[in-house]
Amino acid sequence: MDVLIHAVVGLHIIGIASLLGGFLTQMKAMGRGEARMVPAMLHGALTMLVTGVALVGLHQAQGDTVNTVKIGVKLALLVVILGLVYVKRDEEKVEPAAFGAVGALTTANIFIAVLWV
Ligand code: HEM
Repeated sequence: MDVLIHAVVGLHIIGIASLLGGFLTQMKAMGRGEARMVPAMLHGALTMLVTGVALVGLHQAQGDTVNTVKIGVKLALLVVILGLVYVKRDEEKVEPAAFGAVGALTTANIFIAVLWV
């Protein structure tokens, strides 16, 4: 079971790479107000949701205590991220505030994950 959990954490990290990596490729364009929600961001956000829920299930199946408040905060932030990326996925130019919010919330979730014990 531990190997499976670690493998899913690996997929969770690939999801971060896709979501945050997609955002980073658009930062210069964001400065000009021409950023796009690239497909990698939508796929990354969906990967975070699927692997995150799977990790909660696997930990509970193993009898581990899950920090439900921390997971709830991470899930709430991801719902906002996913909503923004999904709704604006076809826009040629996304306003910097909405685009920047995706990067900021993703970064916040990374630090919540690693600093909140
Ligand atoms: C943008 C959204 C997210 C980011 C950036 C993110 C980031 C991370 C990172 C960096 C880790 C590894 C560090 C650690 O073990 O604490 C992690 C682990 C974890 N994440 Fe996420 N996460 C996100 C969304 C979610 C969601 C929505 C859920 C659940 C619904 C979730 C559930 C978990 C769980 C249960 C672990 C623990 C894995 C383990 O230690 O076995 N994550 N997350």
